[in-house]
Amino acid sequence: MSITAAARFQTLFANRPSILAPMEDVTDHVFRALCRARGADLCVTEFVNVEGLLRGCRKAAKKIQLAPEDQPTAIQIYGSDAERLVEAACVAESAGPAYVDINCGCWVPKIARRGAGAGWLREPDAMVEMAARVVKAVSLPVTVKTRVGWGTETEMPIVDLARRFEDVGVSALTLHCRTAEMGHKGEADWSWAARARAVVSMPVIVNGDVNSAELAERALRETGCAGVMIGRRAIDHPWIFREVRSLLDTGVLLAPPTPAERLGLCREHLTVAAEERGETHGVRSTRRYLSGYLSGLPGAGALRRHLLYCDTLEGSMAILDAYEAGRLAPPPEGRQPRSVEEDVTA
Ligand SMILES: Cc1cc2nc3c(=O)[nH]c(=O)nc-3n(C[C@H](O)[C@H](O)[C@H](O)COP(=O)(O)O)c2cc1C
Repeated sequence: MSITAAARFQTLFANRPSILAPMEDVTDHVFRALCRARGADLCVTEFVNVEGLLRGCRKAAKKIQLAPEDQPTAIQIYGSDAERLVEAACVAESAGPAYVDINCGCWVPKIARRGAGAGWLREPDAMVEMAARVVKAVSLPVTVKTRVGWGTETEMPIVDLARRFEDVGVSALTLHCRTAEMGHKGEADWSWAARARAVVSMPVIVNGDVNSAELAERALRETGCAGVMIGRRAIDHPWIFREVRSLLDTGVLLAPPTPAERLGLCREHLTVAAEERGETHGVRSTRRYLSGYLSGLPGAGALRRHLLYCDTLEGSMAILDAYEAGRLAPPPEGRQPRSVEEDVTA
C-alpha cells in the first residue's frame, strides 16, 4: 500500500466515524447519498459477487460505479475462491473506492454453505491466506468484515483472527458481534469487539444492534473501537448518523427529525430513485424505506397505505402534499398492497 493511501485511510478513522453498513438491495448510491447528507462519515456498497464482477455482469459493474461525490465509499466483494477474490479486488480497486472490503460475514445458507461470506470462518487458515493474497494484489487498503465465529467452535476464533489479519496486512476489521449461526437472531455481544480491538493496532469497527445515538456512543466507549457501523436502523432512520455525530462531538442528543423533514426525505428519495431507476421501478424501490421515514407521524398508517398503491412520482407527491395539507382521503380498501419484495424485484 502506498504511503498516501495509508495516510488517507488513517484520516477516515481519526474521529470515530459512523459508517453505513453494506446491505444488499439497500445501500445503493441513492441511499448512500441520503445517509451521507445526514451525517454518515463513510459508506460501504452492497456486497458484489466476484463471479458477476469478473464476467462483466451489468448489475455487478453498476454496483461498483462510484460517482465523484460518492466518497468516501468502500467496495465490498464476496466469493469462495481466493484467486477470484484477488482478481475481483483488482477490478474493484480500479473503480476508485476508499478501500476494498472482503465479506466474510454473510450467513445466508446459499452463500455461506458454498464457502463464501461467513463460510470462510469454517476454514480460518484459508481465510487468513486469502486475505493475505488480496492485500498483496491491490495497492488500496483491504479490510475484512466478519462475525465472531461460525458458532459451533468451543473457542470463538475472532481474537486470534484479528491478530492474524493484522499480521498479513489487513487494514481494518469490521465485526458483526454475532456468530454466523445466529444470523440476525439473539443479541450482538460487543465484548468480542473489545477483545479483538485489544490485540491489534489496526482500526476495529463495532457492528450489530447499534440502534440509536446513545447505543453508538456506548458501543464505542465499551469497546474502544475506532468506528461504529450501523445497518438496519439506518433503513428506517437515516438521521441516526447526524444524531451519533452530535452526541460524539458535542454530547448533545439531537431532537428527532420534524414531520417536515420526514416528508421531505420521502419526496427526495422518491424523486432521486425515479430519476435513477425509471419512474415505476424507482417509486416502488422506495417502499421498504418510506414506512420508517414516516414513523411516528399522526395518520402514518393511512399515508403509507396510499403510497403503497401508487406507482407514479406525481401521484406520490400529490399524496404527500394532501397529507401535509390535512386533506388526505381515507386509504383505498379491498386490495392488498404489493409487498416490498414483490415491488423491488418486479
Ligand atoms: C437487508 C440486509 C442486507 C445485508 N447485506 C449485507 C451485505 O451485502 N454485506 C454485508 O457485509 N452485510 C450485509 N448485511 C449485514 C449488515 O451489514 C450488518 O452487519 C447487520 O445488519 C448487523 O448490523 P445492524 O444490527 O446495525 O443491522 C445485511 C443486512 C441486512 C439487514
